Amino acid sequence: MILPSSLALLAGSAVAQPASYAARQPQPEPPPPGPPSTKGFQKATVHPSTGGHASCVSGIVPVAASTNKNIKLDIQVPANQSDVTEFFLESFSAGSDLAERIALGNASVAGKYDIYATLCTPMNNPKPKGIQLLTHGVGFDHTYWDFDLGYSYVDVAAEHGYASFFYDRLGVGSSDKPDPIQVIQAPLEVEIARTLATSLRKGTFSGQKFGKVVGVGHSFGSIITQAITQLYPEILDAAVLTGFSSDLSNQPTFLQALNLAIARENQPTRFPSLNNAFLVSSTIISNQIGFFKANGFDPALLRKAEDTKGTVTIGELNSLSGVGGPADRFTKPVIVVDGDADYPFCTGNCSFPTNLAEAVHGKYYPNLADGDFDAYLAPLAGHGLNFHYSAAAAFEHAQKFLAEHGL
Ligand SMILES: *[C@@H]1O[C@H](CO)[C@@H](O)[C@H](O)[C@H]1NC(C)=O
Ligand SMILES: *[C@@H]1O[C@H](CO)[C@@H](O)[C@H](O)[C@H]1NC(C)=O
Ligand SMILES: *[C@@H]1O[C@H](CO)[C@@H](O)[C@H](O)[C@H]1NC(C)=O
Repeated sequence: MILPSSLALLAGSAVAQPASYAARQPQPEPPPPGPPSTKGFQKATVHPSTGGHASCVSGIVPVAASTNKNIKLDIQVPANQSDVTEFFLESFSAGSDLAERIALGNASVAGKYDIYATLCTPMNNPKPKGIQLLTHGVGFDHTYWDFDLGYSYVDVAAEHGYASFFYDRLGVGSSDKPDPIQVIQAPLEVEIARTLATSLRKGTFSGQKFGKVVGVGHSFGSIITQAITQLYPEILDAAVLTGFSSDLSNQPTFLQALNLAIARENQPTRFPSLNNAFLVSSTIISNQIGFFKANGFDPALLRKAEDTKGTVTIGELNSLSGVGGPADRFTKPVIVVDGDADYPFCTGNCSFPTNLAEAVHGKYYPNLADGDFDAYLAPLAGHGLNFHYSAAAAFEHAQKFLAEHGL
């Protein structure tokens, strides 16, 4: 058999050339790292992060998820705002047994859901250290994480060499909106987040396999992330829980302060076709009470947060208390980062009666070594940490914590 001459040459050179020869050859410049590939995303768009430290691809990713831990809720879609208001008034009344009456047992749900997601990789850095999976909270959407110039977790992570993956939770923004009472519930959302983490490791998105996946949450997103550490301790390499504590005593006051309104009536141009089980905080005043601390923010950001506010469903609000809790088997690094004046998780003072971010260690991570847990309170900041002047320094602190732990 006759080899083509070029192939013979190649074959010959591979065997015969001494190592020093290859070393003397000019090395081709690696191609400048472009945006991440759009592989795995439908209707993909490519764009920079707000601060330009990362290069991003956004689009729809289909996620198959199932759970048998949703709750069969004996609730109908509310007929009007009066019914919504009365529902919360009754559930937070002294001695109320509403929560027990409406929970008819566990329910199985399964489906393939279109989730709107963004993957950002650090600009000019083809080898990120790992990826952070960011799950937003109630009242916002995926943009929470890359909200504005200087208010971007994504940019801070990119500057520290991490890629980010963030998404609209089920029912929010451009993600699918199945039944908001029986399907869009916390247990199913835990499974969606878990599936996303696993897919990031497998290389489903942008064709990049990430060896390290850090779970990051804000508020309800932290409850979801914490639940993953509890149920599936092998899935995440570390957790960054922002807007979070183990003290849920102020949740009723917080939810009433949001003054929950039917989304379609409150924001008719943004949510014209959602049914009455999708709710929003009603005004910029409720938004400030729930998420902001004066004088720690630029009023333009409160305005923007109000103009872009996201929905929450009746199914989520009646299923989230059953999700998360002591994670005895999770012994990888955890950091809790709160605004020092967080209203829902600290009743406005995270130092009273003790450091409530620090308290998460004993309550939820009893087997985690002292050196692998950290708590950080951002000065003059409320629950919507990312909207405050002190957010960037808080996010920096979290990245340094990860780096110190080899992540
Ligand atoms: C229902 O789900 C809860 C929460 O996950 C679990 O503790 C309980 O055992 C389940 N009950 C049944 C009957 O499966
Ligand atoms: C709201 O709907 C309920 C039926 O669920 C009805 O009884 C009530 O009169 C309505 N209230 C208002 C203010 O329209
Ligand atoms: C928060 O509580 C701590 C501990 O009791 C107290 O020292 C501090 O003054 C309180 N902060 C505010 C802003 O009230």
